[in-house]
Amino acid sequence: MEIKLLSGALGAEIKGLDLKDTSNENFKKINDLLLEHKVIFFRDQILSAEQHKAIAEKFGPLETHAYVKGLEQHPEIVRIIKAEDEKNQWGENWHSDVSYNAKPTKAVILKSIKIPPVGGDTCFSNMELAWETLDEKIKEKIKDKKAIHSSLGAEFFIKNYKKMEGNNKKNYDEYANEHPIVRTHPETGKKILYVNWTYTKKIIGFEKEESDEILNRIFEHQARLDLTCRFNWTENAIAIWDNRSVIHYAIADFFPGRGLGYERIMDRIAIEGDHPQ
Ligand SMILES: [Fe+2]
Repeated sequence: MEIKLLSGALGAEIKGLDLKDTSNENFKKINDLLLEHKVIFFRDQILSAEQHKAIAEKFGPLETHAYVKGLEQHPEIVRIIKAEDEKNQWGENWHSDVSYNAKPTKAVILKSIKIPPVGGDTCFSNMELAWETLDEKIKEKIKDKKAIHSSLGAEFFIKNYKKMEGNNKKNYDEYANEHPIVRTHPETGKKILYVNWTYTKKIIGFEKEESDEILNRIFEHQARLDLTCRFNWTENAIAIWDNRSVIHYAIADFFPGRGLGYERIMDRIAIEGDHPQ
């Protein structure tokens, strides 16, 4: 096995490991790599929908997205499609997936199907490092606080994206949950800064103005480039990220004359998480 680190902060590209092998031994290797690097990448892994689900199920029960419709035959798979002429792309700002849920996603396995010749990389930022390097005064203020994460409603997930379809059956309205701002990773015991620009709306126990000021300083800190890595997709690549300890950003750099004019298709499977503690 070969491990190539993507940056000094997080992320590794793994060679010589087959994601079709769902043995306990192989899964342990994958999970250990995930806990160490927080996001791991694989290229040239041809997985069917069944094989994609099989490796995901090793992490735990699969989740269906609260708002977005899955595939007819495989409701746990959300197909993320950017049309050729679209500038927007699903997931295009810093966030942790579904952090507004009471039990936000544990991990995500994203598989690329169609990738433009240029544009559409994904960035990840290490929230363990973000906590360690955060200003001490801010740490002191927020260490025992909770924050409200809001889903922003179904429209948010589909209205700007031509080919994304809503799931009309449940949870159509906006809803919110409170989570500790600093959570402890259930497997590594490490502290994680658990807020994000997209879904975290307010720190409980502060006036709105002070809450906004602190959150904005945190969001700026989380986006520091030295905490991040960036993955350049090719077709049939897989990313597995620990959604508890990273935030991510799908870069929508589809500008005329360069990135615009190509379709981008990904299949996403999410694994159920626990109540952040
Ligand atoms: Fe996402």
